[in-house]
Amino acid sequence: MATPADTFHQIVHERRAVRKYAEDGKLDPEAVRRSLERAILAPNSSNLQTWEFHRIRDAEKRKEVARLCMNQSAARTAHELIVFVCRSDHWKDHSLRILESMRSSFSEPLSKRDKRAIEYYKRNIPLLYTNDPFGLMTLLRRIIVFVSSLSKPFVRWTNRANSRIITHKSIALAAQTFMLSMQAEGYATCPMEGFDEKRLKRYLNLPARAEINMVVATGPADQEGIYSERFRFPYSEVVKEW
Ligand SMILES: Cc1cc2nc3c(=O)[nH]c(=O)nc-3n(C[C@H](O)[C@H](O)[C@H](O)COP(=O)(O)O)c2cc1C
Repeated sequence: MATPADTFHQIVHERRAVRKYAEDGKLDPEAVRRSLERAILAPNSSNLQTWEFHRIRDAEKRKEVARLCMNQSAARTAHELIVFVCRSDHWKDHSLRILESMRSSFSEPLSKRDKRAIEYYKRNIPLLYTNDPFGLMTLLRRIIVFVSSLSKPFVRWTNRANSRIITHKSIALAAQTFMLSMQAEGYATCPMEGFDEKRLKRYLNLPARAEINMVVATGPADQEGIYSERFRFPYSEVVKEW
């Protein structure tokens, strides 16, 4: 009998970046929904969930989004396109909602751990995520990092680039969860970074602060969808054991 590890092994091995989808095949939209529900369960920094998943289902809209994905084959032939959008601009609203949910779920008297968790969202998150046009918060964080790291290890997160990277890390994990889930549902995917971000953001009515991490094409694979044998550098070269 196949173990969960056997099944996972098969899913990982069978997932490929598929550049062509079967025109006569069918995509069950519920499989996409289930996979996005699983993607939402991906680990993410401070559980802030500063992400959005834009499902492009309508044929005309897909055509336009495919055009903005440089008309690449995966985008043109996909049955759905999912745009993975970083919304680091949602950090404040989300941290307030997390605080609210903590306050209603924690029971009095608060334990030390509960108090620490509340403190984290009340003080640390604003300190890490607040930015201003003059870079004063970056300066403040640089001073804190400099002083605090003199005698002990300290997380060196100071500027807006750090928070952008963190948001991208989290959403990439969601994208991978989505792709593996679609594979488990019997469909293929292709992650794409080849798109015109400015035009795509405008098309999706996204604000300036939003960023697109990747677009994922999905659908039933066409027989000619895999362009080449899979190639990876060997384990012995990329895994360093300490
Ligand atoms: C961040 C990212 C961006 C990618 N962008 C594209 C793309 O724009 N077009 C494309 O055809 N494939 C794209 N790929 C797919 C890679 O080329 C593919 O994953 C890689 O060649 C390994 O092949 P495999 O996924 O079949 O193992 C992208 C993959 C990642 C992770």
